[in-house]
Amino acid sequence: MAKPKVYVTRLIPDEGMKLLYEKCDVTVNPYDRVATREELLENVKGKDALLSLLTDTIDAEVFEANPNLKVVANYAVGYNNINLKDAEKYGIPVTNTPGVLTETTADFAWTLLMATARRIVEADKFNRSGQFKGWGPLLLLGQDVHHKTIGIIGFGRIGQAVAQRARGFDMNVLYYDMNKMPDVAAKYDAQYRELDDLIRESDFITLHVDLNESTRHLISDREFGMMKENAYLINTSRGPVVDEKALVRALKEGRIAGAGLDVYEDEPLMAPGLAECENAVLAPHTASATRETRGAMARIAAENVLAALEGKRPPNIVNPEVLDK
Ligand code: GLV
Ligand code: GLV
Repeated sequence: MAKPKVYVTRLIPDEGMKLLYEKCDVTVNPYDRVATREELLENVKGKDALLSLLTDTIDAEVFEANPNLKVVANYAVGYNNINLKDAEKYGIPVTNTPGVLTETTADFAWTLLMATARRIVEADKFNRSGQFKGWGPLLLLGQDVHHKTIGIIGFGRIGQAVAQRARGFDMNVLYYDMNKMPDVAAKYDAQYRELDDLIRESDFITLHVDLNESTRHLISDREFGMMKENAYLINTSRGPVVDEKALVRALKEGRIAGAGLDVYEDEPLMAPGLAECENAVLAPHTASATRETRGAMARIAAENVLAALEGKRPPNIVNPEVLDK
């Protein structure tokens, strides 16, 4: 019997590729860049499965090019790049890679938080450019992290893993989520706040929500206006959750102390002026980028492809309605 055909839109780690090569006829984008729209539409034709990345837009046009896909396995926990309404129309299951990047992303949110508060990127540049002339009482003063108030917006797996870390720094932990979760919150000694109250009270605000219509520009001019002047904003969720132009204004005018960002509104572009803000630490969407986690994500994405091709329910389906009807 012919092997099922899979299109992988960009090379992922071996942990996933090996599983696919064993059971499938695999086509991989040969270039180390995002597949172009034309390449995507051309290569998806005649395939049984698509393994996509968060940088691929998967919508009706893609499903139209191949309405017979048995699965779209996204190599990410977030799946805002996939139009689920269109997937449902074509009855195509979509999967993600949850769980494995929870702790890794929380570590990275923490990395950005520490880096901004203690000005580590500025300090490194200072040293390398030969400006270090000896210890100074006023040199590169930052702000304490321990015993401060952290406000976690979105108290899912990643938000909770951040709360866990905050406890080790004796922080006062606040959270906001669409759902109040008293039992979970008690585990981390976290207190619920309405969104505006959390924004007003926090020294560090960290975002862990999905991107959807209710979270787009959740943080904009109004919210920056309510933040403490010495507060920091950390974003490892999705760029459009923050109004990036408003953020640049807030950083430039010193309305907030700083920001640590892993994601941008119009990736890979940054809002004009952001790159000049010394009080921002800017990472290139690498929160989940550890060998262990990217390997585990590859394995999970491949397992979802294989399950769907074997006619089984993919373990990480995000739109189960398509199978249940
Ligand atoms: C990364 O941003 C992901 O959603 O996996
Ligand atoms: C990630 O795993 C999340 O949804 O919090």
